[in-house]
Amino acid sequence: SRTVTRDAEGAATVGGLSVRQLAEEFGTPAYVLDEDDFRARCRAWSDAFGPDADVFYAGKAFLSRAVVRWLHEEGLNLDVCSAGELATALDAGMPAERIALHGNNKSVEEITRAVEAGVGRIVLDSFQEIVRVAHIAQRLGRRQRVQIRVTVGVEAHTHEFIATAHEDQKFGLALAGGQAAEAVRRALKLDGLELIGIHSHIGSQIFDTSGFEVAAHRVVGLLKDIRDEHGVELPEIDLGGGLGIAYTPDDDPREPAEIAAALRDIVTRECAAAGLAVPRLSVEPGRAIVGPTAFTLYEVGTIKELPGLRTYVSVDGGMSDNIRTALYDAEYSVALVSRTSTAAPMLSRVVGKHCESGDIVVRDAFLPSDLAPGDLLAVPATGAYCRSMASNYNHALRPPVVAVKDGTARVIVRRETEEDLLRLDVG
Ligand code: LLP
Repeated sequence: SRTVTRDAEGAATVGGLSVRQLAEEFGTPAYVLDEDDFRARCRAWSDAFGPDADVFYAGKAFLSRAVVRWLHEEGLNLDVCSAGELATALDAGMPAERIALHGNNKSVEEITRAVEAGVGRIVLDSFQEIVRVAHIAQRLGRRQRVQIRVTVGVEAHTHEFIATAHEDQKFGLALAGGQAAEAVRRALKLDGLELIGIHSHIGSQIFDTSGFEVAAHRVVGLLKDIRDEHGVELPEIDLGGGLGIAYTPDDDPREPAEIAAALRDIVTRECAAAGLAVPRLSVEPGRAIVGPTAFTLYEVGTIKELPGLRTYVSVDGGMSDNIRTALYDAEYSVALVSRTSTAAPMLSRVVGKHCESGDIVVRDAFLPSDLAPGDLLAVPATGAYCRSMASNYNHALRPPVVAVKDGTARVIVRRETEEDLLRLDVG
């Protein structure tokens, strides 16, 4: 989305550094992440929601110690969904009270570590977990702040949403049919729990705010039912993450300010109508913060022309560093960045080096027909769910994450080595 500047040799630059320099110093493939952009997006979210709301960055999109420190410095909170993410957050100094623990199958060990650490909230996802967390908290002499995750019957997809009565998936407790109300009943009775609110997450890569509005409407409806039944006004609601980003020029994402205004309006209006105090709002953006801040830098290897079809351009990574194309049919764009070219465009498919024909990074792209081995390609918008979902398929070494800021680049997650791989192989 940003204007690409080029150096004297025609190589694209990021934060004042040419991609050729980056490739030379850090090797390829590499994820190159713009720290200022990350921080600016954090600020855009907290400014949009203001002091009466909390922004929890969803660590599943991408988490490292440096990211935790940036979040901390920018005043954001953090959503973690495993012991590993919790350990990273605590190790990098995120105050426990600013951490939320998620998951549909948290282990006793994960819950225990979170309660011991003093996390700000645990989001309860099942009847069994309500009891489990209460017991663990009581045994540790704590009263754990919790939210209950409900499913509101909104299925959100990129360009549309469907409001239905039932959802057939593993997360949360359904509003329809009364499971959510029953969960609230049980949680309110347990001494180990302090029920602070209701949580809803409707999906990911969403461009249409109306799905969030229906979710907010239904969650406020539950708060009203809780007040009527128990005489208790829960002080918080969390409306999850899911705001989409632009992967290709056709995508038209909403800004944080738009979603903030829409949510604030509906919550304020409906609470006033129901005679409820307006609860504190929180959201959990992952992709919308980190996704656009990074690109993957690849080196071109084999180029194979299939006459009458297209040209297959192989790069030195693939589905091990970006599984999203193979897994979700996700669309990406790609550009030649090591030089400029005026050669005619050729229909290309950018593929990886893995032993699998589904190993596609960019399904359809036009690249200059004078493309040659050694050229560098950049695939933008790979900050979210690429490094965090990377694998060692074919014993690939997972690429580094290089953070660029003020004309300097530093490794925040180093490239894996064969030693790293062999260290785990103890047979
Ligand atoms: N909160 C909860 C409870 C979530 O489950 C998620 C994502 C988020 C927040 C953050 O959603 P975001 O703002 O990043 O859309 N691997 C998939 C995405 C899975 C999202 C899972 N939950 C992908 O690569 O598209």
